[in-house]
Amino acid sequence: MSERAGQWFTLRWRDDTVELLDQRRLPGEEHYLELTTVEDLAQAIECLAIRGAPAIGCAAAMGVALGAVRSAASDVGALIEELEAQVFPRLERTRPTAVNLFWALDRMRELIGRLTAAPGSDLDSLRRALVEEAQRILEQDRENCRALGRAGASLVPDGACILTHCNAGALATGGYGTALGVVRAAVEAGRSVSVLADETRPLLQGARLTAWELQRDSIPVTVCTDGMAGYLMQRGEVDLVVVGADRIAANGDVANKIGTYGVAVLAREHGIPFYVAAPRSTIDLALPGGEAIPIEERGREEIARIGEHVILPDGVGVRQPAFDVTPARFVTAIVTERGVIRSPFEEALRGLF
Ligand code: MRU
Repeated sequence: MSERAGQWFTLRWRDDTVELLDQRRLPGEEHYLELTTVEDLAQAIECLAIRGAPAIGCAAAMGVALGAVRSAASDVGALIEELEAQVFPRLERTRPTAVNLFWALDRMRELIGRLTAAPGSDLDSLRRALVEEAQRILEQDRENCRALGRAGASLVPDGACILTHCNAGALATGGYGTALGVVRAAVEAGRSVSVLADETRPLLQGARLTAWELQRDSIPVTVCTDGMAGYLMQRGEVDLVVVGADRIAANGDVANKIGTYGVAVLAREHGIPFYVAAPRSTIDLALPGGEAIPIEERGREEIARIGEHVILPDGVGVRQPAFDVTPARFVTAIVTERGVIRSPFEEALRGLF
């Protein structure tokens, strides 16, 4: 499916198919993929056709639904066996850092457990329930983003220039966004704000995606390269930083796109508040601190090329951690759908559940 006029969407379930906007092709093309197999969906997550922690969770839930409706299993037992042997493990292998992936898969597993424990569960109703649960996860994620946006908007003064890193917008969630949800809610509350988007090397989520979706909403946005953030802070051009998160440990340490840690340290040096906006599905109370968060390492090609253009000499290696961890001491506040919490985070984070 190719370009559509009018309103766009990140992903949706339609006619036993997962439709998603192929983010690799933005901003040049609005092209939607129509996925009918778990393998295709898993590859779409791996290659970042869909990305951003909450959106990955929504996509994974739809992957389980896809596995269920497209399966040839003839009874409930056989379907569950197939989901456990093939579908869940394949989806779990896609991306390790975003905890929303595992959160969503756990939620689908719990539903299967609940339904099959009840007497008289049949194949059709199990399939239907899995599709409905995946759609509910998407819908709730959108609602959570709106709620956390409203809570976070109170942190944004009129006239503020907000620096953000990567894309934590509608494209990274079921819709509306986390960091960009805060921006959108501030605009809806009547504040005049502008966004400074780090381009976010190597895959340019800030330049390609944050700029694209804010421009679509007529929210003023300017892009700078990652290395410019410190200089612009020093010149007094940044009032606050808001970023998303891929996983928040129990002590408030935050994993997010590589480069976030540097932004946080710079913000501290310049006395600029550094906020993290994320739904509770991004909080992982099972991990005591950030050092336990698995950090995805990606391939050389993403650094060695820009588009078709080779920028590294043959034979030169790269380092490619896709995320870093910002220690909680650099985080001014964490915004969730339950409101704004401040340091010390440990108790406040537990209190959210
Ligand atoms: O590699 P990506 O593009 O999936 O990384 C995304 C980020 O780091 C986002 O900031 C994070 O997932 C929060 S999205 C609301």
